[in-house]
Amino acid sequence: MKVKDKVVIVTGASMGIGEVTAKLLSKQGAKVVLAARSLDKLKNLEKELNGSYAIKVDMTDEKEIKNMVKKTVEHFGRVDILINNAGQGYDAFTTDIKIDKFKYLFDLNLLGPVIAMQEVIPYMKKQGEGSIINVASGTALMFIPGMGAYSSLKRSLVGVSLTAREELEKYNITVSVIYPYITSTNFEKNTIKNGVMQDEGDSPPMPGDPPEYIAQKILDLINSKEAESFAHDWMGKR
Ligand SMILES: NC(=O)c1ccc[n+]([C@@H]2O[C@H](COP(=O)([O-])OP(=O)(O)OC[C@H]3O[C@@H](n4cnc5c(N)ncnc54)[C@H](OP(=O)(O)O)[C@@H]3O)[C@@H](O)[C@H]2O)c1
Repeated sequence: MKVKDKVVIVTGASMGIGEVTAKLLSKQGAKVVLAARSLDKLKNLEKELNGSYAIKVDMTDEKEIKNMVKKTVEHFGRVDILINNAGQGYDAFTTDIKIDKFKYLFDLNLLGPVIAMQEVIPYMKKQGEGSIINVASGTALMFIPGMGAYSSLKRSLVGVSLTAREELEKYNITVSVIYPYITSTNFEKNTIKNGVMQDEGDSPPMPGDPPEYIAQKILDLINSKEAESFAHDWMGKR
């Protein structure tokens, strides 16, 4: 699908991969809905990106997710593309996983994207076309000590996404998954720590792929309608 003039919701647009993706899609002529909790940051970005629209949303809150889609359609009259990007890491060995934190991450990294999909799909069906990109993680393809909680949710997101892809093909709605590898954002700093990683304080983002590299992969995935896109080819060889 070409993004020009399309209405695109980008969750987690206040920083990192989401912010850079929103900028790239806007540059390509999309009307971008900027969604996250940090409304001040979104409002600044809204001023920068022509025709964009900031919506405050906590992606762990079902009502707020529904409201995000409702406000999108009220404002633009349609929704063409959903990019489920908001997410957070959690470093803890299996024995140390805190149940409340795991449940929170379940809501954010898995259930939130599913609810957002459920909300946009009826509009996409009516419009006869749609594209949903779910941001997974290279860790979904690996078994890294301390990452059981986070990676299992991303693995589940892949499962839900690729199943929905089969279900929605007949409606001309494409569901795709992208697997970023280590990307230079504040992701590691924002990761919930539980004894595995040290708190980095004000340290710079971990060296990795620039977020612009992943944003371009997301744009390519919308255009190509492929099922999966890997930050690096070796990740797809499983
Ligand atoms: N960076 C990496 O190395 C890497 C690798 C693999 C996969 N990923 C995935 O890529 C995606 C983006 O990560 P990133 O690297 O850009 O991380 P980031 O810089 O920490 O950004 C995370 C984004 O998610 C939003 N967010 C967090 N909790 C939220 C909530 N409860 N409700 C709504 N929005 C929320 C944040 O906005 P607010 O705080 O303003 O709400 C922020 O915009 C995530 O799904 C992550 O799992 C990242």
